[in-house]
Amino acid sequence: MKPYDKFAYVYDRMGADLHSVKMAEYTFRIIRKFDIRVASLLDLCCGTGTALKIFHEHGYNVAGLDGSTAMLSAARKKIQGKRIPLFRQNLPCFNIPDKNKSRKARRFDLVTSFFDSLNYLKNKTELKAAFHSVNRHLEPGGWFIFDMNTPEALKTLWGSQCYAGAENDLAWIFQNDYNPDQPSAACRVTLFVKKGKGWQRHNECHIEYGFENKDIKNLLRESGFTVKGLYNCFTFNSPAPKTTRICAVARKK
Ligand SMILES: C[S@@+](CC[C@H](N)C(=O)[O-])C[C@H]1O[C@@H](n2cnc3c(N)ncnc32)[C@H](O)[C@@H]1O
Repeated sequence: MKPYDKFAYVYDRMGADLHSVKMAEYTFRIIRKFDIRVASLLDLCCGTGTALKIFHEHGYNVAGLDGSTAMLSAARKKIQGKRIPLFRQNLPCFNIPDKNKSRKARRFDLVTSFFDSLNYLKNKTELKAAFHSVNRHLEPGGWFIFDMNTPEALKTLWGSQCYAGAENDLAWIFQNDYNPDQPSAACRVTLFVKKGKGWQRHNECHIEYGFENKDIKNLLRESGFTVKGLYNCFTFNSPAPKTTRICAVARKK
């Protein structure tokens, strides 16, 4: 089973959508800080569409992209009736064609990617290819804002720990394994979902890869960006060695 095939159905119920809400609020603070003019926005790895809905309600012209059919189907329900195009494509390389075909790629003022979605890319080559694709989809001077788990997060928060929870009709177990070599962490998700009088069991494996801040900055620069800020996420402070989540703010040259 592919990651998110089943997790998609319980993602919001487990409160995983709340991160997007927090990131959208933080993004508005970043937009004010840098006086960014936003009319159009692409949310990369948009998941169940929480940020898309918030940004659309704010008046932006938004579009979403994700690799998971199940996550996109949850997003489609959430944004029903709104004119928000959704694209099913896989990173690292993606292409959204321009509507009037005058350009190869549609361009946006701002691209966002929340909740360690970019940690699913396996190495620096893939991360750089994704940054390049983002750059192609930005207007000149356009902005890119994303958060990522740090290697410290994979080591200490994911670590080799086990998390579990249960409700009347849903139970979940997250078993994590940290691999210091790459570094990466695998999360084996087991879901039990009540079905009639019985329970259905679903297994998924999610693997995230850690990237050093200096590598993220270099890859952004090599992909045509100026790095405007790299923060301890939700603040405007520089990351410390124990920071578990960073937020990068980059601008297309
Ligand atoms: C942790 S979820 C975050 C979803 C959403 N951004 C949020 O904040 O709730 C990660 C998302 O990244 C998507 N994703 C992971 N790897 C991907 C890839 N290579 N291409 C496209 N989407 C990917 C998954 O399908 C999933 O929806």
